[in-house]
Amino acid sequence: MNKIISTIIFVILCSFFSLISSFSIAQTADDIEGKVEESKKNELSARQRQELKNPNRKPFTAVIGAMQVEVDLFKLKVHPKKDTTIMGVTFTVGKMRTRDVVVVKSGIGKVNSAMTTALLLEHFNPTEVIFTGIAGGIDSLLLPGDIVVGKRAAQHDFGQLTTEGIIVWQTFNYDETSNPLFFPCDSLLIKKTQEAGEKARIKFIRTYDAKRKPTINIGTIVTGDVFVASTQFKNRLEKEFDAKAVEMEGGAVAQICYQQGVPFVVIRSISDTADENAAKLYKKFLKVASFNAAHLVSELIFLLEKDDKRQTDREK
Ligand code: ADE
Repeated sequence: MNKIISTIIFVILCSFFSLISSFSIAQTADDIEGKVEESKKNELSARQRQELKNPNRKPFTAVIGAMQVEVDLFKLKVHPKKDTTIMGVTFTVGKMRTRDVVVVKSGIGKVNSAMTTALLLEHFNPTEVIFTGIAGGIDSLLLPGDIVVGKRAAQHDFGQLTTEGIIVWQTFNYDETSNPLFFPCDSLLIKKTQEAGEKARIKFIRTYDAKRKPTINIGTIVTGDVFVASTQFKNRLEKEFDAKAVEMEGGAVAQICYQQGVPFVVIRSISDTADENAAKLYKKFLKVASFNAAHLVSELIFLLEKDDKRQTDREK
């Protein structure tokens, strides 16, 4: 009898202690989450940190595009210009009106764009980076020619491959600490792009249905080393990341800029709908989409230039 009673007491005590410890683990997890949220609030953006470090730095804007057609328009607008080739990558430095710029074609995919961004930051030290180009539309409301301004960028193909597909991981910084899953784009560049969008006379495009003015949208852009041509996969990207567009470079550029504390934004125009029709639509809309993104980015640069002028006038 005594044995039974002592077993019951033992079981009750065990349950009590496990309840207490699970409560304190839950509390600890909540605490940590709270602290992370709090520290995020206090974290300065790349732009704020840069401005604190060097408040009088002259703006120097870098524009990257993956393909020739995505950067051609800029090269025409840079005067005078000087080309420098490093490891096969040509950087064009000059002025767009009065704004100092460097324009570069990175090549396609995350490896090329990461290498180009690293060379760009090391050799040219821009104050901000703008990625321009085309993307596959994930949001079903987007049609070829429409624009997505990245609020944040993420890599959809970094993680653990299982039979159900990839379980996405956060990328790692050089010191093996985790990066955020979503790299936040610079809020000033987003705001100015919106303003530029209101002014830009973007080409009216002929899509399947009608001739229409492209829309300008803000949202998540995801990146991976694959051209997405699958309704099933695009739905997954929408569900898992709340993605509006998919491409093959932005997330890598974002990672390098984030790790080096340089403000950046990704601006993309939709060339296709990332489904089974993607390859066909891509061919048809590559040029118009590249033009739309590049045109908006050059309007953005002119707007930034105007702000520089206002600032210098005020300082006089
Ligand atoms: N860039 C343009 N369209 C794309 C797609 N469908 N997938 C990945 N990158 C793209």
